[in-house]
Amino acid sequence: MTATTGINLLEDTWAREIPHDQFARLRREDPVHWHEIPGHQGFFAVTRHEDIIAASRSPELWSVETGSFFIRDQTPEALESLALTLVGMDPPRHTRMRQLVSTAFAPRMIRKLTRDIERRAALLADSVAAKGGRVEFVEEIAARLPLQIICEMVGVQAADEDRIFAWSNRMVGFQDPDFRTSEEDGQNAAVEIYAYCDALAADRLKEPRDDIISALVHAEVDGERMTTHEIDMFFVTLCVAGNETTRNLLAGTLLSLIHHPAARAELVAGIDDDALWTTATEEFLRWNGSIHNFRRTATRDTDIRGVPVKAGQKAVLYYTSANRDEEVFNAPDVFDIRRTPNEHLTFGGGGPHYCLGAGLARAQIKSLTRELLRRHPHVELTGEPRRMRSDFINGIKYLPVQFS
Ligand code: HEM
Repeated sequence: MTATTGINLLEDTWAREIPHDQFARLRREDPVHWHEIPGHQGFFAVTRHEDIIAASRSPELWSVETGSFFIRDQTPEALESLALTLVGMDPPRHTRMRQLVSTAFAPRMIRKLTRDIERRAALLADSVAAKGGRVEFVEEIAARLPLQIICEMVGVQAADEDRIFAWSNRMVGFQDPDFRTSEEDGQNAAVEIYAYCDALAADRLKEPRDDIISALVHAEVDGERMTTHEIDMFFVTLCVAGNETTRNLLAGTLLSLIHHPAARAELVAGIDDDALWTTATEEFLRWNGSIHNFRRTATRDTDIRGVPVKAGQKAVLYYTSANRDEEVFNAPDVFDIRRTPNEHLTFGGGGPHYCLGAGLARAQIKSLTRELLRRHPHVELTGEPRRMRSDFINGIKYLPVQFS
């Protein structure tokens, strides 16, 4: 391991910008870099595409359950709760839990949902015109579509969408003062959303419907019904994973089209060219990955690229860096809407935890961006965008724009 100085991948860095320059140096000089965190055990920052794929596909060596998916070490109670989430548990339990919901996300279901997504995307794009084209894109537009879709799939009625939105902001934005007003607030939000979920679950136990919450309350894992807490954690994972990530990706996509007017003009000219919109969507995903990293913990002594790692030490997999890896992408710093192949790791490095909602997210990003540009080929900033302060979520919390 070489000593690479001037590297800081903790939250303040990301509030300003994505540290692509630091990642380029790390990939070149120190791809398995030891990084300290004040007050916590340090970690290995893994920045090459190939190494991230290898770790993601070896869950028996790289556990998520042992130390959670967060960079910072958790209290034993928090760790216990996180191990009940789909994304926080290891096989073989993970395999059985994932089967419970996988049919709701199967390609056949996504194709069915796509018509609904297109209809809602068109309505949202129309609503921009009704506001004279001037909108705060994050809250008024980008947040709406994923929220509507996931609420419908899970079983939340439309009138409660805004409550889900506020709870998930308070839980995810824990490093950003705009979202979380006090230390306890994130925990309070969790308690409130659990209570909401419990009421919903009790209702579906009596009267099942065609939604995910009904499937969960009636399902058996290893011959047993899921506990209330397990259902709560599942519900929260779906609400948060289905909302924040897609919203941020939609906002990032619009910003990248403001920064690349030639690409935008090309997309407007080819508005009905589905092949173009398919490659463009993959580039939006590569360019604006909404989760920077997930952590894994070594279950035994091993090495990554020859760097020794002891059992219990953590590796943080930087998808954001993998998406610019020059060994995989030609001209990685060029935004190329016709790029193919495009093996980005925005949905993870493969393996058991590969994003369950990838098809759903792709359909939403493509439909909404296309319907917006179809009606409003020009778009510009009317103020400074504001980024979320987080070393985990690639968030844009404020994006004022004028469409015309
Ligand atoms: C652009 C939007 C999205 C991005 C960037 C994204 C990204 C990711 C990533 C990086 C992972 C972890 C992969 C790993 O650990 O190997 C993941 C897992 C997951 N995602 Fe997404 N996601 C998005 C949208 C969605 C949507 C719309 C849903 C729908 C509810 C969803 C549900 C999930 C779930 C449930 C998991 C855990 C899967 C498991 O552990 O088996 N995601 N996502």
